[in-house]
Amino acid sequence: MSSDSTALQSSVVINEAVQSLRDGGLVAFPTETVYGLGADAKNPEAIKKIFSTKGRPSNHPLIVHLAAPDRFDQAQVDWVPVLAPWVRDLSEDALKLINAFWPGPLTLVFKKDKSVLNELTGGQDTVAIRAPAHPIAQELLRKFKGGVVAPSANRFGKVSPTSAADVRNEFEGVLDLMVLDGGDCEVGIESTIIDLSTGDRAILLRPGVITPSEILAKTGIQIYHPGEVIEETDLLPKVSGSLKAHYAPTTPLRLYASGRVLDALSEFPDTKSRVAVAVWDSESSLSHDGHPSVHFEEVVIPSDSASFASRLYRSLRDLDQQDWDLILFPEPPAGEEWDGVRDRLQRACFGSGPSSSSHVSN
Ligand code: TXA
Ligand code: MG
Repeated sequence: MSSDSTALQSSVVINEAVQSLRDGGLVAFPTETVYGLGADAKNPEAIKKIFSTKGRPSNHPLIVHLAAPDRFDQAQVDWVPVLAPWVRDLSEDALKLINAFWPGPLTLVFKKDKSVLNELTGGQDTVAIRAPAHPIAQELLRKFKGGVVAPSANRFGKVSPTSAADVRNEFEGVLDLMVLDGGDCEVGIESTIIDLSTGDRAILLRPGVITPSEILAKTGIQIYHPGEVIEETDLLPKVSGSLKAHYAPTTPLRLYASGRVLDALSEFPDTKSRVAVAVWDSESSLSHDGHPSVHFEEVVIPSDSASFASRLYRSLRDLDQQDWDLILFPEPPAGEEWDGVRDRLQRACFGSGPSSSSHVSN
């Protein structure tokens, strides 16, 4: 098949997806971070379908995804008309962040325009927006000519999908869902979320691959951590990823400190016999670190933070399918570039295990 006919075919499929969104349907699509479960941001019934399909509480707000303006490869493009229907006011800082990072894995929270549906903001007076970089997401959004709300395309509290097959597995037997296939997601963890709605300081709500230092270096804007400006508990209803349990596999998952696999096992009361141990590709094998009653198997993981992020959910999903009794991951090293994956791993540990539905899973 020539590349032309491939392009033509995907374009036909994308047109179908656009029609499905216009008809109030759900469409799963690839972004550079994870796959999203999309619906028309102006259709309250379609938005309700997202919440019921995911099993997500209706007060957890969604991100609106927008197309980048035409010719977004130019140095300065005009994002103001793109955002005007959604946000009440657009500060200088907001425009700096947008020009530096959109389209890309950065979500910004603004005071919302009054026309933005309460169904999507969970009743809050703010709205989260991002322009994803994946070409299929961009084509879908450009052709749709409107905002698309899209949470990660997984059931609530579970591991986010990074391939079309993951999305299909997630909703198999539950929903006949149209899934646009854009291959494996490059970034692998969800977008960084920055709250600009308080008007004075920009606050990090969810760490991702775009870090506060990178933002400072590219825009001169200082990003504050929630604890520096507000009581952490005030954020809980806002960001579902800020609840303790999230992104969780069904197999129990624990972290181990460098070289302390056995300690991690002894802290786990029901040590069983089959344990998958993730080890950094930069480190020597654990085989000398044996345990008489345990069968270890090593899984090599990248020691570079970007590659680790891009493979994290893939590894968790694959290991979860393999019938292990316990999965051990090394604690990520200190350093801001690891904050995104550390955050996801800690919440995944907390929510993991067969009884995860009985704790504060979200
Ligand atoms: O990378 C991503 O952001 C992916 C892809 C699909 O774009 N989407 C994603 O959506 O991660 P979701 O729904 O799984 O996570 C969105 C997060 C939630 O934690 C939500 O609470 C937060 O964004 N959020 C949405 N609107 C907000 C608002 N107005 N204020 C604060 N947080 C908000
Ligand atoms: Mg999610």
